[in-house]
Amino acid sequence: MTHRGLLVDSHGRTLRDLRVSITDRCNFRCMYCLPETEAAANFYRGRWAQGGFHPEPITRQWVPRSKILSFEEIERVVRIAVSLGIEKVRLTGGEPLLRQELDKLVRRIAAIDGLKDLALTTNGFQFNEKGYALREAGLRRISFSLDSLDRENFRKITGRDALDQVLESIRFAQKLGLHPVKVNAVIIREVNDHEIEALARFAAAHGLTMRFIEFMPLDSGRAWMKELVVPGKQILDTLCARFSLDPIASDNLSETAKRWRIRGSNAEIGIIAPVTEPFCGHCNRLRLTADGKIRTCLFSVTEHDLRSRLRGGASDEEIADYLAEVVWDKEPGHRIGQPDFVPASRSMSCIGG
Ligand code: GTP
Ligand code: 5AD
Ligand code: SF4
Repeated sequence: MTHRGLLVDSHGRTLRDLRVSITDRCNFRCMYCLPETEAAANFYRGRWAQGGFHPEPITRQWVPRSKILSFEEIERVVRIAVSLGIEKVRLTGGEPLLRQELDKLVRRIAAIDGLKDLALTTNGFQFNEKGYALREAGLRRISFSLDSLDRENFRKITGRDALDQVLESIRFAQKLGLHPVKVNAVIIREVNDHEIEALARFAAAHGLTMRFIEFMPLDSGRAWMKELVVPGKQILDTLCARFSLDPIASDNLSETAKRWRIRGSNAEIGIIAPVTEPFCGHCNRLRLTADGKIRTCLFSVTEHDLRSRLRGGASDEEIADYLAEVVWDKEPGHRIGQPDFVPASRSMSCIGG
């Protein structure tokens, strides 16, 4: 690999973070992502009845296996991206632990010269079985989704009665020495906003990094309504009323979260507020989907076909040039809440968090 350019866009942003979705399949049906359960339908029907227009759901079909990138193909893209200045890689899904022998992919990626950080986002359901092999393969840090600490509410939100398994996985990740262990909760009004304090207490008790995320219009049902978003500011006010929080300064402008330490603990709170306080101006993220498409924004409406190039005999140099070309036209940002907002062409389950 001889390519020495960086991935720079026409708005002056240099991309350092590659998120790789390795499967579009998932074993959960989260209300904010794949709202296909009765509980989700009942909840949203009730809200829609209160008014508002709802576009058609995204017609979702699992990507055929033949179109899913192999480990060799993913490793090749990551290696080329690293030669173009990518420093962080996050493996996502769907649910990445559903991919057989994921540890083999982790081992390949962890060995890429120049890569500084390799992380994984998971719902945690199978982490107990697979965590050890992943750590041995070179995984150093992890983010779990955990939106509720109440068994019934967890089931309502995710479609699986799996709270205990996920809590067990979080403990196991800490025991394995993965650090930091981050926990993501998407907050939806009248679903889990009453659990903000409990989730923060859980983080304080276990020394976790707990991140509260605003609900974004990325669900496959197109069920999102702005009324369901709990603004980051409101989440912060709720927390400040109950905890002493000390802001954590950061010189990384591309971070998604604003961060606080819970005084008297080694736990951290993060608030990710893409809807009410967009952070697009400093976005340094690029995405690769499981079927080999490049997305330059979470909310992209067009994708760039890398798979046909990977399978069509393109050289590393040609792949690098193609990446540089598509990155140049990275969108300035999302337009959530604007009259001309166009929803993303695929749901979060296909793009990865
Ligand atoms: P690290 O700093 O590597 O831990 O990554 P991160 O802070 O981006 O965390 P993570 O990958 O766990 O993402 C947390 C959540 O932030 C995701 O699940 C999304 O909801 C949201 N998010 C991540 N990247 C973007 C982005 O580029 N745009 C928007 N709008 N939201 C994002
Ligand atoms: N809004 C905000 N975050 C979302 N995620 C998935 N769907 C949404 C959404 N509609 C995030 C969750 C999950 C990660 C994979 O993606 O935090 O942990
Ligand atoms: Fe980056 Fe797009 Fe997310 Fe904005 S919405 S932060 S541009 S991926």
